[in-house]
Amino acid sequence: MLLINGTNITKSFSGEVLFENVSFNVYDKDKIGFVGINGAGKSTLFKIIIGMMDYDSGNLSKGRDVKIGYLEQ
Ligand SMILES: Nc1ncnc2c1ncn2[C@@H]1O[C@H](COP(=O)(O)OP(=O)(O)OP(=O)(O)O)[C@@H](O)[C@H]1O
Ligand SMILES: [Mg+2]
Repeated sequence: MLLINGTNITKSFSGEVLFENVSFNVYDKDKIGFVGINGAGKSTLFKIIIGMMDYDSGNLSKGRDVKIGYLEQ
């Protein structure tokens, strides 16, 4: 079952593009590692997924009953 879909998510800070057109699906029972160098935008993308931060363009949809827990590093 599809829980979360992100399509073409783009995020900039101060006019500088951090990432663009990021697309992904999260299905139930998925186990996902989030890998990238320091400053790549992992925490930013996670904050977008949990609704703590806005994104500039693209689309993010979550299943109606999906609850997301987040433990900050
Ligand atoms: N609120 C903000 N305002 C401006 N720039 C920000 C903000 N949050 C993050 N950034 C910048 O965006 C970039 C990505 O930051 P982020 O914390 O998402 O990276 P990360 O991949 O989680 O890094 P790390 O591996 O160190 O945890 C960095 O250059 C950071 O300085
Ligand atoms: Mg981080």
